[in-house]
Amino acid sequence: MFLRIRKTWELPERDVTPEAFFYNRRRFMKSLIGAGVGIAATSLTGCQSRRNRSDNPTAGTVPLGDIPRNPNFAEVDRSLTPRDLATQYNNFYEFGGNKSIWRSAQALPTEDWKVEVTGLVKNPRTYDLDDLQRKFPIEERIYRFRCVEAWAMVVPWAGFPMRLLLKDVEPLSSAKYVRFQSYYDPDVTSGPGWRPYSMPWPYTEGLTIEEMANELAFFATGVYGRTLPKQNGAPIRMVIPWKYGFKGAKSIVKIEFLEQKPATFWNTLVPKEYGFVANVNPDKPHPRWSQAEERMVGRGPSFSWDVRPTLHYNGYGEYVAELYG
Ligand code: MTE
Repeated sequence: MFLRIRKTWELPERDVTPEAFFYNRRRFMKSLIGAGVGIAATSLTGCQSRRNRSDNPTAGTVPLGDIPRNPNFAEVDRSLTPRDLATQYNNFYEFGGNKSIWRSAQALPTEDWKVEVTGLVKNPRTYDLDDLQRKFPIEERIYRFRCVEAWAMVVPWAGFPMRLLLKDVEPLSSAKYVRFQSYYDPDVTSGPGWRPYSMPWPYTEGLTIEEMANELAFFATGVYGRTLPKQNGAPIRMVIPWKYGFKGAKSIVKIEFLEQKPATFWNTLVPKEYGFVANVNPDKPHPRWSQAEERMVGRGPSFSWDVRPTLHYNGYGEYVAELYG
């Protein structure tokens, strides 16, 4: 997901350019040279994002109160990533091509949020957040999180298992795959200087029905005991802890049950580098870097972050290995 120059952990994050951004920027610069009108549009968007500027990465979130922690996911063998790091080091390409998008992500409009569930199900439904809260009791789970770019975190999510939603909508026997779609509106999802042209928007991801029914597959509506900050995918996102982080689509608006495998964002953009299955696997290098080790997101330059061996299925083999046997 970024242009590799040296080993991934040898560079501070600000020095790495996501590959898709690099190519799009070249295209964008070309289009500016070709059409002077583009410059006016850029500065207008710049003004808009300055208006949205906030200095609090958890602005707009509210405490969730006393939520039970699922005893099966109460801890992992690593310490929790501090909240201020997990909420200020993000990937959310709708809002920019670097890790510092939390300010521009504040433009995401989360009022009156609806999630449409459609396709091959007995009970198609459109849920609002109250419906979700009423139907699916919230619990806390501490999960490892592993990005395909080789950085990692430990995050306390709040939310509910995907299998509860499956039970509610009752997929038909013809449903084999599930497509998840993120919010997208090109008028609001553009950080300063960021023109995500030529990417296959909206952001989509996919799972098999069996993966979605797995005990670990989770919809998060909160993190660190509060509702989700916008940059982390408010108000509801996917968390699939045995897969690389890009499988966890943010700010979900639509869930569709299908017979055929759906196209997904990264697999469409760079098919040689990002597959559909995308299970964490230390033995399967990314075409441009090793996956044998990971860096725990920390303070200071990224090359000094705590480096650990990558775990098969991100340490969740006992729950998921049988899915791929
Ligand atoms: N969802 C959307 N809609 N857009 C994105 O760009 N990035 C993915 C995933 N979900 C992304 C997304 C990637 S690459 C990662 S690693 C995780 O979100 C990052 O989640 P975090 O920012 O909460 O750590």
